[in-house]
Amino acid sequence: MSPRILVLFVHPALHRSRANVALAQAIQELPAITFHDLYAAYPRHLIDVDREQALLRAHDVIVWQHPLYWYSCPSLLKEWLDVVLEHGFAYGEHGTALRGKRVLSVLTTGGPAASYQSDGSNRYPLSQLLVPFEQTARLCGMTYLEPFVVHGAGQLDDPQLREIAARYRQHLLDLGNGSRPTPAV
Ligand SMILES: Cc1cc2nc3c(=O)[nH]c(=O)nc-3n(C[C@H](O)[C@H](O)[C@H](O)COP(=O)(O)O)c2cc1C
Repeated sequence: MSPRILVLFVHPALHRSRANVALAQAIQELPAITFHDLYAAYPRHLIDVDREQALLRAHDVIVWQHPLYWYSCPSLLKEWLDVVLEHGFAYGEHGTALRGKRVLSVLTTGGPAASYQSDGSNRYPLSQLLVPFEQTARLCGMTYLEPFVVHGAGQLDDPQLREIAARYRQHLLDLGNGSRPTPAV
């Protein structure tokens, strides 16, 4: 059976989003994908843990799609990590529900790629800033794939966004076809 993909879409201000909306529009209707908008589902941040854990069990590839906020994720995704990845479910002696699944971070950043270098204004490569996500996935027995990153999102014009969104769509189609993009580590 083809891998089933769960896209956790996390953006607190959709009316101001260009990049994540463009990316989401390109993949939302793909048949192999469950598109789950966390801010729409939980506007008061009261996450239904049982529902989220059932969704995780039912999928093979988990996508965390969000803008980079303060070198991390918007707060609802942090809350989701805190309450959904419970001991005994995601990790710990009997916490094996996520073993063997794959995780893909899909990120947009305001800063250009060159700023995410030791001599750039953001000083650290994104791979280093994303270590908490990578290690979270790893602790839960999942493979953390090479992130799909859209740098300098605010500077992209509509044709550029359309081209990147088409690449994102193809990337998810490849994952859904069972092609295995290179793990990040
Ligand atoms: C609260 C907040 C924090 C942000 N922090 C960062 C950051 O740490 N690094 C960065 O490159 N961009 C940062 N940005 C810019 C966003 O990442 C950028 O606007 C977003 O990725 C664009 O995608 P969108 O069009 O879907 O909103 C931040 C924006 C906001 C509102």
